[in-house]
Amino acid sequence: MKMPKRIIALIITVFTALAAFAGCTSQNNNTEAKQSAKNGGIDYMALVNKTHALPDNWEKQLKTVHIKNSVGDDVEVEKKAYDAYLKLKADLKKDKIEVDLDSARRSVAEQQRIMDDFTKKYGADYAAKTVAKPGYSEHHTGLALDLYLIINGKDVTENEDMIKYTKIWATIHKKLANYGFILRYLEGSEHITGYGYEPWHIRYIDDVKTAKEITEKGVTFEEYLGAASGKKVDIDYGGSKLYSKDDLKDAVIQIKCKFAFYNGFELGAVRYGGDKYITEKMLKKVQKDNPKSKYTQVAVFLMDFSTSKTTGVTKLKPDYDYKDYECILARSKDNGWEVLSFGS
Ligand code: DAL
Ligand code: ZN
Repeated sequence: MKMPKRIIALIITVFTALAAFAGCTSQNNNTEAKQSAKNGGIDYMALVNKTHALPDNWEKQLKTVHIKNSVGDDVEVEKKAYDAYLKLKADLKKDKIEVDLDSARRSVAEQQRIMDDFTKKYGADYAAKTVAKPGYSEHHTGLALDLYLIINGKDVTENEDMIKYTKIWATIHKKLANYGFILRYLEGSEHITGYGYEPWHIRYIDDVKTAKEITEKGVTFEEYLGAASGKKVDIDYGGSKLYSKDDLKDAVIQIKCKFAFYNGFELGAVRYGGDKYITEKMLKKVQKDNPKSKYTQVAVFLMDFSTSKTTGVTKLKPDYDYKDYECILARSKDNGWEVLSFGS
């Protein structure tokens, strides 16, 4: 199948729409949290994610403690979450696993500083996939805890080092629910949470029974709360001489992440379009349209999805099943895949 000419023409219009949702509109639906706050406490089940900001008045109700971790940093944590963490830590010690707290409650200003730091070090695209927009970080609640590992007395604090200790994380994750914690950013659920896998980021929900239910179901907090469709997407990586399976997997994660922000849309399938789509002409066009991005590679995927009753995207029909809808991605040497456009 040849690339329809219309797709290039659609890049600009649809990309504008994409940019709007990638920026994450404010949508604070935590009515329960607000009610609980009125009754003089925080709602331990409050959802804070890319589309749900920290509930109003949260900070007034929040009771925290400050501790010093093994590297001498001050860490602020919600009080009950800290007590539960201490019990988890003691339990892990029995298995000769030592953990400490890297970061828990963060102010909006602190989150901004982290965002600026990541943007400077790794670029805006990577920062958006790994750091929440200030005001939309679960860390603002004081209930999200980032652990780090202490291996043979040595602090292992960098994400890329920590992630290698898969067996240790598996043991930690098995114990979380017993203390009212859940793992928040699950592997393979990037399209729902909007973030990559974070084995260290745990969330206190103050209810062991619910934590166990969520863990046993293997679902994200969003799915449990009914804030995501949770439908499995059919993926077909096809065959490629240009890209490895991991390259294609990374691209699909980006597509799913983008899609997570179309409220009410449902993604059914994503297929690699094939190497035949990738032409020198197409790459040149993408480079010309995005001169600052230094793209060196492009890929095309085909998507099946249904739209919501009001799409918010002028080019898309409401309440409609789209098939073989094309999605163009590009990447540079230093950065991962970015979705450039959804076209048809
Ligand atoms: N790393 C998580 C997503 C945060 O910044 O809140
Ligand atoms: Zn975290």
